[in-house]
Amino acid sequence: MSDPLPPDLAAALAAADARLGPFGRLYYFSEVDSTNDVALALAAAGAPEGTSVVADLQRAGRGRRGRSWFSPPGAGLYLSVIVGAAQRAGPLSLLTLGAGVAAADAVAAVTGLPVELKWPNDLVIGRPWRKLAGVLCESVGLGARVDAVVVGIGINLRTAAYPREIADHATSVETELGRPVDRAPIVIECLTRLQGAVDTLRDGRGETICQAWRRLGRAGFEQASVRWHDEGRERRGMARDIDNAGALVVECEGQMERLIAGEVTWDRLSHD
Ligand code: BTN
Repeated sequence: MSDPLPPDLAAALAAADARLGPFGRLYYFSEVDSTNDVALALAAAGAPEGTSVVADLQRAGRGRRGRSWFSPPGAGLYLSVIVGAAQRAGPLSLLTLGAGVAAADAVAAVTGLPVELKWPNDLVIGRPWRKLAGVLCESVGLGARVDAVVVGIGINLRTAAYPREIADHATSVETELGRPVDRAPIVIECLTRLQGAVDTLRDGRGETICQAWRRLGRAGFEQASVRWHDEGRERRGMARDIDNAGALVVECEGQMERLIAGEVTWDRLSHD
């Protein structure tokens, strides 16, 4: 059902085989609706942890909060990875942060770019922040039972004609570096680092993920105000930290409040 691996990915996977182990089981498609959909179907059919899907183009790429993810051919890395059925690594909130750290460190390692994280897991760069990549975690299960999680990573690799609504706050690795980059080393780094994050969580070392996240996300805790909705009312506060469960800690009217993923719009350093 998948397409043959393109030579760049085949060579990179073969070279990294020993390091990747089960995370080297990669399916490639020239075109899909969403790599997350393909990975969710594979997980539901029993595919093991580490099974991954890359596509050259997504017809219906999904972003967080019901948004679409702009996925033109060859312009981005569209990668989805299955994480552990029965022994899923730690709480989903920490896996979500760990996946953001893995993707940010992968891009930084391959390109040298000073990538930052905007909570929960947007990869951003520059001032004002421009979005380079995003992570969407979706789970497979019955009712409240989670059997597996699909970590979907979308990275803007090439300069592209972004839709008007994102054009002023999106960027790409190529735009930031001033030269094109190969996707294969970024795929390998994402898989290796995601595997590392999963192992860390499974070892019960969630605070290591939080520390790594703070290293990349600290700029947002200096001067950034955030907005969120609370029982139909818009509220504002200053982002101060994340806690060890991965929640955003916000100072609001002299009190510290915890916000969970998906609720927040950042006002400064970014256009969310
Ligand atoms: C976000 O809104 O920031 C998350 C974007 C996640 C996009 C990736 S691309 C690969 C995977 N497949 C999808 O449909 N979405 C994720």
